[in-house]
Amino acid sequence: MDSQTTSSARYSRGAVILHWLIAALIALNFAAAWYAQNQPRDAAMQIMGNHKAIGISILLLTLVRIGWRLTHRVPAPSADLAPWEVTLSKIVHFLLYGLMLGIPLGGWATHSAFSGGKPVSMFGIVDFPGLPFAQNKDLGETFGGAHGTFATVMLVLLALHVAGALKHRIIDKNTQALARMSLRR
Ligand code: HEM
Ligand code: HEM
Repeated sequence: MDSQTTSSARYSRGAVILHWLIAALIALNFAAAWYAQNQPRDAAMQIMGNHKAIGISILLLTLVRIGWRLTHRVPAPSADLAPWEVTLSKIVHFLLYGLMLGIPLGGWATHSAFSGGKPVSMFGIVDFPGLPFAQNKDLGETFGGAHGTFATVMLVLLALHVAGALKHRIIDKNTQALARMSLRR
């Protein structure tokens, strides 16, 4: 495990792969939810079926990632960062993890309330169980509202997250900052 305290310390390969795999799936799920909104009903249902399966995959991968995070050391913060930057990035990362769980849990609850606890089909290959709810449109709308609000909050945090990464790269001219999470070794 890489536990260097210099600014060249990097996240391990497993952490990096999980970071970018989950980031790509989250981007895809935002795109799917937005695209489905302007589609005819049948197409929208099919896209949302994939949205749900991708979302459950994100939930499961996030559980692996958090389990991994709690049992491994991560590289020390870059020595070039000001203390406020270290604190802010820690808060943003913590909130992002919370939303990486909270958003799919909210979506799962939405689906379960609307459908009366039907399973989520994982791309037609296996079923992921629904939460044991009786069918309840009002409850579905409440969960759906929370799901959408959480997703909006995530977009704000992601803007901060990416702005932080770009600030280190462009303003601070710190070429190591992005390299910590780079797929290129
Ligand atoms: C849906 C998209 C994304 C999510 C959910 C996400 C989430 C996270 C989380 C939770 C961490 C903390 C890792 C840890 O210490 O456990 C992290 C680190 C990091 N992310 Fe992202 N990220 C996303 C997209 C991006 C993008 C687009 C960039 C680049 C522009 C980026 C660059 C980084 C970097 C450089 C780090 C390491 C920070 C450090 O050195 O301490 N991320 N990300
Ligand atoms: C990180 C994963 C996910 C992201 C980023 C995400 C994002 C979104 C977004 C942006 C919307 C549109 C919200 C709006 O218009 O207010 C949406 C809607 C929806 N999502 Fe997700 N979602 C995720 C996971 C899930 C999961 C796991 C499920 C179900 C198993 C799900 C089920 C739904 C449903 C049913 C809707 C429509 C809600 C309604 O009609 O009120 N989502 N999602």
